[in-house]
Amino acid sequence: MTPEDLKQFVRTVPDFPAPGILFRDVTTLIGHGPSLTAAIGHLATRAQASGATMLAGMEARGFIFGAAAAAHAGIGFIPVRKPGKLPVPTIGVDYQLEYGTDRLEIDPTTITPGQHVALVDDLIATGGTALAATELLRSAGAIVTHAFFVIDLPDLAGADRLRAAGVTVDALMD
Ligand code: PRP
Ligand code: HPA
Repeated sequence: MTPEDLKQFVRTVPDFPAPGILFRDVTTLIGHGPSLTAAIGHLATRAQASGATMLAGMEARGFIFGAAAAAHAGIGFIPVRKPGKLPVPTIGVDYQLEYGTDRLEIDPTTITPGQHVALVDDLIATGGTALAATELLRSAGAIVTHAFFVIDLPDLAGADRLRAAGVTVDALMD
């Protein structure tokens, strides 16, 4: 199944999480076996070609695609977690949301300095989450040059922000 074929399996939900927003929902893609398999295969092939030796995914939907793509590629996976979840000393970064702030944390011992780590998430919108994850992984010594998404929302220009930070952005669909 090509990335173009996968588009029909993403559901668009009006007025979520707020009136006027058209929410692109991957629940339907994940629930369809051939689509899930194809999406993971495309992400894994692209991530392998980038030279990444580990993938990192952002909680929660980034775990679904990131861990599966890493397993498909035969490499390890770093969970980039919401705060207070990891049972060991962490490093973290606070980042801006449309309203308020959020925080991401990792276990820095999962990264060998100089290691090439690529990001995987279901979707890039403003790019705030992916930029924060990039900053965090880099602060632990990772080299982050590529990020892979199932969906890019180009109107929100997150991919442009990530490119400006030196990250090549690749999405299966917009
Ligand atoms: C969504 C999505 C990305 C992020 C994209 O996650 O899965 O991680 O938002 O938005 P941005 O580019 O504007 O930062 P969310 O924070 O809703 O968490 P979830 O995966 O736990 O639902
Ligand atoms: N879908 C899923 N996650 C999102 C979206 C969306 O349309 N916008 C921002 N995060």
